[in-house]
Amino acid sequence: MATTSTLFTATPSHLCSSKNGIFLPSQALLLKPNSSRRCDGKNEKKGGRIACQSTSVPADDRVPDMGKRELMNLLLLGALSLPTAGMLVPYASFFVPPGSGGGSGGIVAKDAFGNDVIASEWLKIHGPGDRTLTQGLKGDPTYLVVENDKTLATYGINAVCTHLGCVVPWNAAENKFICPCHGSQYNNQGKVVRGPAPLSLALAHADIDDGKVVFIPWVETDFRTGQDPWWA
Ligand code: FES
Repeated sequence: MATTSTLFTATPSHLCSSKNGIFLPSQALLLKPNSSRRCDGKNEKKGGRIACQSTSVPADDRVPDMGKRELMNLLLLGALSLPTAGMLVPYASFFVPPGSGGGSGGIVAKDAFGNDVIASEWLKIHGPGDRTLTQGLKGDPTYLVVENDKTLATYGINAVCTHLGCVVPWNAAENKFICPCHGSQYNNQGKVVRGPAPLSLALAHADIDDGKVVFIPWVETDFRTGQDPWWA
């Protein structure tokens, strides 16, 4: 009766072949009738010759050389650095106060769509007496004023009510800024004329730089009251 035996007992680095087939270490059990040959690279067997081939790889070849390892390290570092920097930049910019587009802490005025306000373009669509909100210093809503001679006023009016902070709309019919929250009123230059607001609306310089309107902090005397600016 035929018997079975394990033909491959060598280390996993051996690959053996014979006329009867090829087998791998992972296929360590290859059934052969009446055979007790070991695959050691030198054995022969009756009715068939087994040839063994060592596939051992020198240890040095199994480890990537230093150049490859450094390249892989660089690739890994780059893969980690880019997303990290992408997260850190917006996070850091959160702590940087807005203010660019001009010297002295000035900022270019932005229209309702976030575009820079070009003075000449603005005056084409905003007539005398117009007061329209733009984005000013620190992101505050700030009115650009068109004078009666169709030029831009040299000041902007901060629209934040000095009572409790509502945005004060311009009422052209009343020629005033009238706060909808508690009824405070300001004249057409933003000077408070009725409470409960305790102070006039803040001012900012409105200059024109390279055709664009630039808001600059107002630190001089408030021309409406003759007093030091409370907001500076
Ligand atoms: S917030 Fe404007 S009057 Fe109160």
